[in-house]
Amino acid sequence: MTHSSSLVSALRSVSLTVPDLVAAEHFYTSIWHLDVVAKTEQAIYLRGTGADHHLLELHQADGSAKIRCVTLRVRDLSALEKVATAAVVAGGKVLKPIAEVTEPGGGQSVTVIDPDGRVFQLVFGDAIHADAHEAQDRPIRLAHAVLNSHDVESTRTFMESVLDFSLSDRTRIMAFMRCNSDHHSIALGDSDNNALNHIAFLMPDVDSVMRGGGRMRDAGYGIEWGPGRHGPGDNAFNYFVGPFDVVIEYTAEVQQIDDSYKSGQPTDWTWPPGRVDQWGISAPPSPRLKDAQKAVVFVS
Ligand SMILES: [Fe+2]
Repeated sequence: MTHSSSLVSALRSVSLTVPDLVAAEHFYTSIWHLDVVAKTEQAIYLRGTGADHHLLELHQADGSAKIRCVTLRVRDLSALEKVATAAVVAGGKVLKPIAEVTEPGGGQSVTVIDPDGRVFQLVFGDAIHADAHEAQDRPIRLAHAVLNSHDVESTRTFMESVLDFSLSDRTRIMAFMRCNSDHHSIALGDSDNNALNHIAFLMPDVDSVMRGGGRMRDAGYGIEWGPGRHGPGDNAFNYFVGPFDVVIEYTAEVQQIDDSYKSGQPTDWTWPPGRVDQWGISAPPSPRLKDAQKAVVFVS
């Protein structure tokens, strides 16, 4: 199999700050269906049913929710040095040099920041669960994270030159980037800001995406966009505004591709009037969702 990125093998996790760890834990376990895998005084680490040690970190901090970093797993130890060097060449900085991870999950890591303040932690040798499985209505792993950019083309260049990601598709408003066989693990949203747009959690099937939609609605979190099936990536979706305005998505059936995939351009990805997804049943994203998609900025 060809590896789209010679350096990065997968999106591992996203780390956020939240103002109320107790409320967040309740939500992400009993409603969103993750499990707590580790806990410290100031943070909780949540896993899905898959092998990743954790896919979401929540750290206590007053104020609005913020994003601390996106964690990517690298293919070998030498990739840490390569990313650190390339980040500086591309105008970024090394925030934390290569060192042993002292937080739950372990491994070796380096943390870099791009010229606009997006923080990427690269990790190698992190803990992997031996009991990976799929269960109906429970997230397996992260599917993707979408990061807004006020200059998508320069952010795309950083992703390509530092992390060796490849462009899968470019639409009028998004650049979909891959590091493995998933159509995208990171997407960049054309915007007037550099916030976290949303985090998508991979469900085992479309039925689970739909059941999740009902469970969220029962808990007071209505579907803000969906149900639908995206164009690029072909994945089914339901979007929600979770606690503290963090936008979260249940998704399934993301398209698997290899390096023979022909990247689409904006003119390849247009909808007929009134349509926002393949099924044609979803209303457009709600104004509330659009506001929340700008709310979670990187910790500076
Ligand atoms: Fe998404």
